[in-house]
Amino acid sequence: MTTTLGTLDQRLRQKEMAVTLGRLGKKYLVLSGKGGVGKTTVAVNLAWLKAKAGYRVGLLDIDLHGPDLAGALYLGDSRITVDDGGHLVPMEAKENLWVLSVQNLLGRKEEAVMWRGPRKMRAIIQFIGETAWPELDYFFIDSPPGTGDESLTVIRNIPDLKALIVSTGHPMALSDVAKAMDCLKITGTDVFGLIDNLSSLICPECGKETPLYDLGGARDLAAQAGIPYLGSLPMDPSATIAADRAKVPLVEAAPGSPLTLKLTDLANKL
Ligand SMILES: Nc1ncnc2c1ncn2[C@@H]1O[C@H](COP(=O)(O)OP(=O)(O)OP(=O)(O)O)[C@@H](O)[C@H]1O
Ligand SMILES: [Mg+2]
Repeated sequence: MTTTLGTLDQRLRQKEMAVTLGRLGKKYLVLSGKGGVGKTTVAVNLAWLKAKAGYRVGLLDIDLHGPDLAGALYLGDSRITVDDGGHLVPMEAKENLWVLSVQNLLGRKEEAVMWRGPRKMRAIIQFIGETAWPELDYFFIDSPPGTGDESLTVIRNIPDLKALIVSTGHPMALSDVAKAMDCLKITGTDVFGLIDNLSSLICPECGKETPLYDLGGARDLAAQAGIPYLGSLPMDPSATIAADRAKVPLVEAAPGSPLTLKLTDLANKL
């Protein structure tokens, strides 16, 4: 009896997931084998640009242990509500942009999430399938570094998912990213392309651009793997400082900056 009820419950959840996925539009998983390379920055700013262009956009944080999405949108103090049907209700960050992060479910800002495998998988399935996402054109998922339970749960449950890989040109990042690419190959995940972040530094004083790595590493990695190279993004301290001051993503705070222009080119490719 328990097994029958368990199976029924699972089938209902799968059905609910399929119905929800049908209204989420184009789905992109922003991932990398490496931490700190700009996944959250890329996810937030691409989502913001698409919402600003009039598309309806969802943004989900599956970085359960280090959720940064709400902070990157300056929404750390907002709280997620639950509707009458028991579904989580994503926050509206701006017109056309809905966001869900575990950070906005925690009782305390500093609270650690100490979940292990099955609990993490269950939470992520709930964040996608049992959440009141509106009808969307784009759904961006910001992931933790590597290809652990969080990313694998998304990969296994979203058949039409495309991966947006973020790397820097540093050899250590490239070798970790190569492992993530191997995982995507093994799981048969569609790869939209590779973004080469922090490839150069834009001087905040004079605007001069200086390469940070021996340019070409990320491009070569993409070519070797046979995946599209989506171009490079400079490190642009003026844009990130403007974002922190205005408490909006950098594409809004520094619209004419070299980084915003490159991110806009990238958003237009999606
Ligand atoms: N192109 C850029 N120009 C300037 N600063 C950047 C750029 N890309 C990322 N950063 C900064 O680098 C830091 C790390 O970026 P981010 O949090 O997006 O990386 P992440 O890959 O999501 O990290 P984690 O693996 O911890 O989730 C942030 O402070 C962010 O503002
Ligand atoms: Mg991040």
